Amino acid sequence: MLNDTFLTPAQIVAELDKYIVGQHDAKRHVAIALRNRWRRLHAPADMQAEIVPNNILMIGATGVGKTEIARRLAHLADAPFVKVEASKFTEVGYVGRDVESMVRDLVEQSVSRVRQRRQEAVKAQAAEAVEELILDALIPPIKHPGKKGKSLGFGSTDDTEAAGEEPGEIPASDRELNERTRARFREKIRDGELEDRRIEIQVAQPGPSVGIMGAPPGMDEAALSGLQDMLGSMVPKRSRKRKVTVAEARKLLLEEEAAKLIDMDEVKDEAVRQAENAGIIFIDEIDKVASSGGSGKGGPDVSRQGVQRDLLPIVEGSAVNTKYGIVNTDHILFIAAGAFHVSKPSDLIPELQGRFPIRVELQPLTKADFVRILRHPKNALTKQYEALLLAEDVELSFDDDALERLADIAAEVNATVENIGARRLHTVMSRLLNEILFDVPDKIAAHAKVQITAALVEERLADMVKNRDLSQYIL
Ligand SMILES: Nc1ncnc2c1ncn2[C@@H]1O[C@H](COP(=O)(O)OP(=O)(O)OP(=O)(O)O)[C@@H](O)[C@H]1O
Ligand SMILES: [Mg+2]
Repeated sequence: MLNDTFLTPAQIVAELDKYIVGQHDAKRHVAIALRNRWRRLHAPADMQAEIVPNNILMIGATGVGKTEIARRLAHLADAPFVKVEASKFTEVGYVGRDVESMVRDLVEQSVSRVRQRRQEAVKAQAAEAVEELILDALIPPIKHPGKKGKSLGFGSTDDTEAAGEEPGEIPASDRELNERTRARFREKIRDGELEDRRIEIQVAQPGPSVGIMGAPPGMDEAALSGLQDMLGSMVPKRSRKRKVTVAEARKLLLEEEAAKLIDMDEVKDEAVRQAENAGIIFIDEIDKVASSGGSGKGGPDVSRQGVQRDLLPIVEGSAVNTKYGIVNTDHILFIAAGAFHVSKPSDLIPELQGRFPIRVELQPLTKADFVRILRHPKNALTKQYEALLLAEDVELSFDDDALERLADIAAEVNATVENIGARRLHTVMSRLLNEILFDVPDKIAAHAKVQITAALVEERLADMVKNRDLSQYIL
């Protein structure tokens, strides 16, 4: 993970720029935070313990790119990363997910990352073992003399059929023949000639999952899942014979063989270490647990504050019990985000505010931003629809002034009805293309070209925008 090819802040911003328009402040801050993870691990050991991450709070109206930044960051981070929603948690002691589960999720993610990498590293070795298993199924090797030998090369080519079977001693010539046949078949397997041949293999059966209905009182989630794992491992692992093609067998066996080649204890240790030192937890919708206005109404506010209070030690740094061991949260980076429409950051309990020292505000998106969002990001809406129709051999294209007009309309509806940011582009666009999407391929056949002009945008959408009641429902 953290190696010398780790992205520099400028590179991180450049990567984010491929997907997210504007919001440079936010991008810069997350880029610095991400790079700081790498810097810390390259600092002198005694300083490493002292350097704590500067957690970030992203504030911005709905649909301006907060979650999108987190999502893209996850791809770039090359580190254990989880995104959770603050509103999903409940105070400890109440039914629901407690906040510590975010750390358990992080470790879980880290374990699967490390395991995947290790498996990747032993893939060639595993593939060899799998080839051998497949070969054994096709042409079983001659068993030791004395034991009851299997017939040679059953179910294969005719030249092996002649070779009879003598209980007891197996003549050297038979063994040689068997070896030669196996060698030939090994070639055939490698050349992919036998992919459709059906063979019988042993595959591990996932043991019956042991469910525990309702946690016994006083037992937390970590202990519960540990107990479930333990009970699960007490049920003997069974394997089952299955008849599959060689191609399928390879797929089924590869993971099993790769798993045998890696040391799970080492994976767990490494995964915990990575989660502790490089882990990033993105807490979305943090504003949903802020209690607004301090109105005396009890109920939800009480439990929201409870969630905030439960968050404190985790963000501050504490030890969380997971089934992979104790995880220290001191150096985990937390990025929180919220729209803060109704509540303000200052509605969070002060202790929590203090734990997110870096505040970044995301800017409202302008019409010019909309035009760029429509056209430029790698996953731009125009590109998505073009790809969809290309699947039908229909070439869709958008005139520049059509996109201008579309952005105009989106901005206008945002201003008059409700500001939902860039999400408005989705509703406007789907409205615009609705008919075309329906008519392909029945009325608009393959090889057609569909050009979206400003006039077409006007025709399809203008009336709707003027009629506020209509746009409220449709756009
Ligand atoms: N700056 C931007 N550049 C490109 N696309 C954007 C931008 N902002 C938002 N989008 C698009 O709009 C959609 C919604 O954005 P996102 O999920 O990031 O909103 P959000 O800020 O998390 O809002 P909320 O507060 O409602 O969760 C996404 O599909 C995203 O592609
Ligand atoms: Mg969001």
